[in-house]
Amino acid sequence: MKTLALLSQKGGSGKSTLTVHLGVIAQAAGLRTVILDLDPQRSTAGWWETRSAETPEMVETVPGDLRSVLESARADGVALCVVDTRPSAGADAAAAAALADLVLIPTRPAIFDLKAIGATVDIVVAAKVPAFIVLNGTPAARGIGEASTTADARRVLSDYGVPVAPVSIGLRAALAHALVDGRAVNEFDPTSKAAVEMTKLWKLTEKTLWPNAQRSVRSRRPSR
Ligand SMILES: Nc1ncnc2c1ncn2[C@@H]1O[C@H](COP(=O)(O)OP(=O)(O)O)[C@@H](O)[C@H]1O
Ligand SMILES: [Mg+2]
Repeated sequence: MKTLALLSQKGGSGKSTLTVHLGVIAQAAGLRTVILDLDPQRSTAGWWETRSAETPEMVETVPGDLRSVLESARADGVALCVVDTRPSAGADAAAAAALADLVLIPTRPAIFDLKAIGATVDIVVAAKVPAFIVLNGTPAARGIGEASTTADARRVLSDYGVPVAPVSIGLRAALAHALVDGRAVNEFDPTSKAAVEMTKLWKLTEKTLWPNAQRSVRSRRPSR
């Protein structure tokens, strides 16, 4: 079992949005997935309550119980836990980082947001956990390539000691809609740009968590 944690000190950076999308995409890819909501604001738990599908599964818990909840999930045969956290760079964020196999740090590309991620970066560096910063809510590009705001953000973040994910998530109304709809955009508009970007982010996540996945898939095939 692998554990993916979404961390960032700032509210509104996209932790819950990325949590529900990556959770839904992972489940659709055939992994038994559990979303853990550690945030008392209950964004992801509220999303799940409006959802008609029963998967991915959802567990609301508190940071102090995270370790035991993850152990139960592992014992139960869960393949992936996606942990959504409250905006914090305190002890509970550090605890989640310590238990994770990969941390994603979403940030808006605005300069105040970029400045605020230093404390979260310090936590993942101290925990020695693989991590990516994910630019979220990036403006549409005019012409080829990324908008200048996104390129500037990449430059600012390039010496933070945590890599910036090559894929960024654009500012897209469909993603805001998803949180109130109980579905991921990949479920109601799978060919949209938002869905394509989320799928790319999932591919990066999957490749990082299971670098040898192809080999293990092959070895699981029944031998003839
Ligand atoms: N890429 C995006 N495009 C449009 N709206 C977004 C995007 N990412 C997040 N949002 C919206 O911004 C708000 C905050 O996002 P959320 O995921 O709840 O952040 P956090 O969990 O970090 O506080 C939500 O209303 C969400 O729907
Ligand atoms: Mg949230």
